[in-house]
Amino acid sequence: MENKMSVLFEPRKMGRLKIPNRLVRSATAERMARPDGTCGPQMEKLYSDLAQGGVGLIIVGHACVREDGRNRLSMTGIYNDDHIPGLMKVVEAIHKYGAKAVSQINHAGRQTTPAVIGKTPMAPSAVTNKATGLTPREMTLAEIEDMINAFGHAAHRAKAAGFDGVQIHSAHGYLISEFNSPYTNTRQDEWGGTAEKRMRFITEVYKEVRRQVGDSYPVLVKLNADDCLEGGITVEEVSEIAVRLERLGIDAIEISGGMAESKVGTIRAGIDSREKEAYFLPYAKRLKKAVSVPLLLVGGIRSPEAAEEILDRGWADFISLCRPLIREPNLPSEWKNGRTEKAACISCGKCSKYPDRFINCEVIHPGHPEGSF
Ligand SMILES: Cc1cc2nc3c(=O)[nH]c(=O)nc-3n(C[C@H](O)[C@H](O)[C@H](O)COP(=O)(O)O)c2cc1C
Repeated sequence: MENKMSVLFEPRKMGRLKIPNRLVRSATAERMARPDGTCGPQMEKLYSDLAQGGVGLIIVGHACVREDGRNRLSMTGIYNDDHIPGLMKVVEAIHKYGAKAVSQINHAGRQTTPAVIGKTPMAPSAVTNKATGLTPREMTLAEIEDMINAFGHAAHRAKAAGFDGVQIHSAHGYLISEFNSPYTNTRQDEWGGTAEKRMRFITEVYKEVRRQVGDSYPVLVKLNADDCLEGGITVEEVSEIAVRLERLGIDAIEISGGMAESKVGTIRAGIDSREKEAYFLPYAKRLKKAVSVPLLLVGGIRSPEAAEEILDRGWADFISLCRPLIREPNLPSEWKNGRTEKAACISCGKCSKYPDRFINCEVIHPGHPEGSF
């Protein structure tokens, strides 16, 4: 990269949120929470390192809005007020180095197991999860209402912890994306049966979150643009969701895809050429035509040239990175200081293979022995 100021390091507004540059750390589960969902000093250290590395916005790994929304025992909680003090320290660690902090709120829906939550997982419909072989139970109408409230309360806690914004996780086959998708939502009541009814859940979650955090607080969403399996959501429906959320006041949309059952989906292997980078780019181009709200693009972006081209061409407004920053938290600073090579991450995906070990690059620290409770 030339030493002239790259577009990657220009400050930019993301709706109501001002970000010091165009690089975002996409939410990455840390797998560091204690069994009660609280987080401790390991999380502070992780986020301090990331913020020092120069990334502009850090979306902290998904936090569950209810205890039965955990996908792993080590998932961070945001389902009661005892979680707030630990999260506050994480936010302080991020702010100390000038980065912004957003909390991602999630419920695992059918992508968890009784071993983790102590009961049968719930979902919009009782559609067997081929990745686990488990069939969830269909949520009742009262449970749907409770769930919407749980997202709202979680967003309120995120604000109380000092986060600069909140991101609603509506991707990767977790609960909200399960409602959006015809693959996982086969209901025939007011929450399913047509695209309009399937997107009602995310709409209501957004409205409740907005009600809880107020009009001026940044609210983002991470959206599956493609479930990456037959019978999944169509890009036309995703565009409609995006348009609706924009109309309601969403600050930004992060584009992703895939779910646990997709053969090739969220976390793709072998991104070893420029052509393979930015594997959800076609969806960004498509959504750009539908909405004017800022778009974040994630998925296989590895080189500064690819990232710059995406921004220069206006295909997306922010570049989100996950695995590259697990291996090299300093990557943004290095690019800023003239490094021209792409991320060292080889996209093997092994960092996602060990759910009960602290987040770790398995290539440079195989086994990570100290990384579990
Ligand atoms: C270890 C690991 C944990 C992840 N945790 C989350 C998460 O908590 N929330 C989320 O939305 N995506 C999560 N992701 C997906 C990433 O945010 C990102 O969408 C995906 O890895 C593709 O981007 P990349 O090619 O830059 O890694 C995770 C990915 C990995 C590898």
